[in-house]
Amino acid sequence: MSQPQLRPVRVGLLGIGTVGSGTFTVLKRNQEEIRRRAGRGIEVAMVADLNTELATKVVGDAAKVVSDARQVIANPDIDVVVELIGGYGIAKALVLEAIAAGKHVVTANKALLAVHGTEIFAAARAKGVIVAFEAAVAGGIPIIKSLREGLTANQIQWVAGIINGTTNFILSEMRDKGLDFDVVLKEAQRLGYAEADPTFDIEGVDAAHKATLLSAIAFGIPVQFDKAHVEGITKLSATDIKYAEQLGYRIKLLGIARRRDNGIELRTHPTLVPMRRLIANVEGAMNAVLVQGDAVGTTMYYGKGAGSEPTASAVVADLVDIARLLDAAPEARVPHLAFQPDSMSALAILPLDEVVTSFYLRLRVADKAGVLAKLTGILAEQNISIDAVIQREADEVSGEGNQTDLIILTHDTREGSMNQALAAMQALPTVLAPIVRLRKEELA
Ligand code: HSE
Repeated sequence: MSQPQLRPVRVGLLGIGTVGSGTFTVLKRNQEEIRRRAGRGIEVAMVADLNTELATKVVGDAAKVVSDARQVIANPDIDVVVELIGGYGIAKALVLEAIAAGKHVVTANKALLAVHGTEIFAAARAKGVIVAFEAAVAGGIPIIKSLREGLTANQIQWVAGIINGTTNFILSEMRDKGLDFDVVLKEAQRLGYAEADPTFDIEGVDAAHKATLLSAIAFGIPVQFDKAHVEGITKLSATDIKYAEQLGYRIKLLGIARRRDNGIELRTHPTLVPMRRLIANVEGAMNAVLVQGDAVGTTMYYGKGAGSEPTASAVVADLVDIARLLDAAPEARVPHLAFQPDSMSALAILPLDEVVTSFYLRLRVADKAGVLAKLTGILAEQNISIDAVIQREADEVSGEGNQTDLIILTHDTREGSMNQALAAMQALPTVLAPIVRLRKEELA
């Protein structure tokens, strides 16, 4: 006996820029395939964009175009609102209004969820609606679904990802061409890889938003962007990329969330990664996420982290999930943050001083007897074990005697101990310039 045809799910898009137009195109091109998977059609019925002319150009007469997003939210025929405006401002108001109107929400807005997720997910639960956000982390890579569902058997131990394509592109170029950050940033902007205002990308904020979301679904903790350590790539020099390479490491901007006995580390910073790891070889604007689970071991997810159709791929996957669950009871759905809301973990985000990593240090020192002994003595006082010490050839510096770069790699230590050691080393008269300190992760 044939099943009765379910009516299509009706979608309202808020914003039809790069991702919005990709979503419209993919839904249209693959409509039959999607209907076969979802069990019903999914159609864009309405689009809100301030640029109605552009919106009309994209959707033709397939959907009603308006300039006021609230008209979409107020339309009782719309089942799902897809928020593609971005940022914390009007997007927050519109998402909360859509939830209040009983609409399911799909969003690519990592900033909004990393900062206001607790309020938004609580509102959605109270209303019995879904807020889906696959597109918010690593674009087309289905990392949210993998963590929430595919790896649900595991105790996740850590997640570490290249989750910002702009900075990975810049780092790849710096390494390939031996160029400094500022030069490559300008080139990246000229080629369209970096935005005119690239602050969120290059200062690590975008990656930290995504790491915050990953930490929440990996460990069942609330989103806590305010507790994340955020460090970008603006201070990174070509010299350290070159030295790291000589030592067998690549420098990547990693978003890291790691479970420790006493809490959760949540941090984004440039990181030395052994060159032999797959993730060290992720180049250009590509993204990759490593997840370590106690049962599965290490898994890796790789793909495009941005762009029109890659991000649309994630948005449409969320729409298919919603289409399948439209008539299901809210309890039957996968919880927003993977864990049942009454079973969240009380583990706190650790202060940076408690974070444990190994380090790369570069010191510009006077090349004379006893300098190295003093430095290693200071590290020993803090119980910091040295993994390797490399001294570069001395440079001649007229009038001041010889100087040299000393590179020290350490074993794992508390960040607080390293800070104390750094302060003591920096105070030595034989340390001639600010010490460069980078964190290192073996990701084994
Ligand atoms: N600006 C981000 C990146 C893409 O460079 O990866 C959107 O999150």
